[in-house]
Amino acid sequence: MNEPLVDTHVHLDLGKFDRDREEVIQRAGRAGVVAMINVGFDLASSRRAVDLASRHSSVWATCGIHPHYARDAGPEVFDQLAELVRQRRVVAVGEIGLDYYRDLSPRDVQEKVFRQLLDVARRAGLPVVVHDRGAHQEVLAVLEAGGAGELGCVMHCFSGDWAFAEACLARGFYISVAGTVTYPQAVAVREVAARVPDNRLLLETDCPWLPPAPNRGRRNEPAQVAAVARTVAELRGVELARLAGLTTANACRLFGLKALPALGSCRLPADPPGPAAV
Ligand code: NI
Repeated sequence: MNEPLVDTHVHLDLGKFDRDREEVIQRAGRAGVVAMINVGFDLASSRRAVDLASRHSSVWATCGIHPHYARDAGPEVFDQLAELVRQRRVVAVGEIGLDYYRDLSPRDVQEKVFRQLLDVARRAGLPVVVHDRGAHQEVLAVLEAGGAGELGCVMHCFSGDWAFAEACLARGFYISVAGTVTYPQAVAVREVAARVPDNRLLLETDCPWLPPAPNRGRRNEPAQVAAVARTVAELRGVELARLAGLTTANACRLFGLKALPALGSCRLPADPPGPAAV
């Protein structure tokens, strides 16, 4: 039997999955993925995330504005997001953060939007999913000022070194490891994956991007979180079952997914009755 896993960062609402979304979700289930967190990156994708989660018992949603799209976020967007995050099956605000690597939005605008969305999270009592590329210290400063440690916070697709990981851990954040950990040259991320304490580690695919090593260049999908888990278990020198159990429990704790006994440390609640698929 496959070990129960949670893929904490997917983008299944994208057009790249239009042709075979249902099959992708079924394949994930067969690979042991008991829950997927579909992460919004602008208002439209946040709405699609909520819609997808309403139709699939294994999919949950987050709503947010990625720093790339911060420049498009007018004042009305924040009210609409504040409304959207109150929908059932929305478990976090994200992805939010700073991207000083591609700089697709002006940096001052990225920071302003990041702060405003932390506010949305605080008012909704939700944790945050954080994107950080080339802005480690600036991201830490905004998160610290916004009290992210108390809200619950995950540094998604962690890209820093062990020193930065320690700074994040000291502030109470979770660290999520993606398929990059399977790339032999990703030395820093592999070290972080080996050393993060058991109670702060999460797994993700960030699909359709970042496929694990053997599939590089192809579309990624949630079933591949099993390959991420295998690599991380090897790096930590633990059994896959143990790694699956602890990362699944961490995902349940951070995102407030109810723990039930039958799946071991974590079992997700049944989907309440909702509108039928169209
Ligand atoms: Ni993402």
